[in-house]
Amino acid sequence: MVQLKINEELCIGCGDCAADCVHKIIELSDGIPFIISGGENNCLQCQHCLAVCPTGALSIMGLDPQDSLQLPADVPSSIQMENLIKSRRSTRQYRQGNVDGETLDKLLKILAYAPTGMNRQKVSLTVVNDIETMNTLRQRTYSAIQAKIDSNEPVSETQKWIIGYIKGWQDGADYIYRTAPHMIIASAPRGIGTPVADCVIALSYLELQAPSMGLGTTWCGLAKTAINEFAPELITELGIPDDHEVGYMMLFGEPTVTYHRTVQITSDRVNFPKLKKQ
Ligand SMILES: Cc1cc2nc3c(=O)[nH]c(=O)nc-3n(C[C@H](O)[C@H](O)[C@H](O)COP(=O)(O)O)c2cc1C
Repeated sequence: MVQLKINEELCIGCGDCAADCVHKIIELSDGIPFIISGGENNCLQCQHCLAVCPTGALSIMGLDPQDSLQLPADVPSSIQMENLIKSRRSTRQYRQGNVDGETLDKLLKILAYAPTGMNRQKVSLTVVNDIETMNTLRQRTYSAIQAKIDSNEPVSETQKWIIGYIKGWQDGADYIYRTAPHMIIASAPRGIGTPVADCVIALSYLELQAPSMGLGTTWCGLAKTAINEFAPELITELGIPDDHEVGYMMLFGEPTVTYHRTVQITSDRVNFPKLKKQ
């Protein structure tokens, strides 16, 4: 699985791979890196050794360093990153049509690069990629809410909050799914590692990448709560494994709204603590 291979003609014995190895399982013998005895079991599969090698001499897990994006690459400048973060907006006006499959495919492949706790890489992305399925999801959610109302059974405070959105649906508005043509659900195996954080990070990357591909997004706590409270069977029907925790849901599609300036948010919530030495 780990398959550390060194091209000895290219290796300069600098030891950068060993120095940057998280679990310190790489050492050098006669200037050539090797995995220490039993080290395979502790490999995080983070590929830092492959990434840090200055001469591209190191292959791990069967990967060719030449297939990596070579660095430094064309990345946004500090001001471009700042502008991206400041101009990020939630989209609540969408074109009623499917996003081009190639664009979506590219976007989803990029998300695989989002970091995960212990490098588990277990985030699953369930993508409602056609508007017809999305419309069915919408209709099923509101029907389930209506059924609960009609049952006259007692409702929790959370359910009461979601029930408040049924009036809009009856009047032709969709406040839960914001009329979005698509939704993505990030989930990961429950109990091991950091499933919720991993999912939220993946969707945060999606949110930041999407505008450059002509897409808008909305974090959708309402959908998550509505499905959870009224139609949990949809989670299974959408193909999310039973042992997965749903990290979060995000709507997306082509926006029909344009913003001409950023909002203005104060940044006064920062704490720089000092601790008493003991
Ligand atoms: C975790 C989370 C859940 C959210 N859930 C919803 C939601 O269910 N519906 C919605 O319209 N917006 C939702 N939002 C978007 C926020 O309401 C939005 O960020 C806020 O209105 C500020 O607008 P902006 O994102 O354009 O800055 C959510 C945002 C976050 C971070």
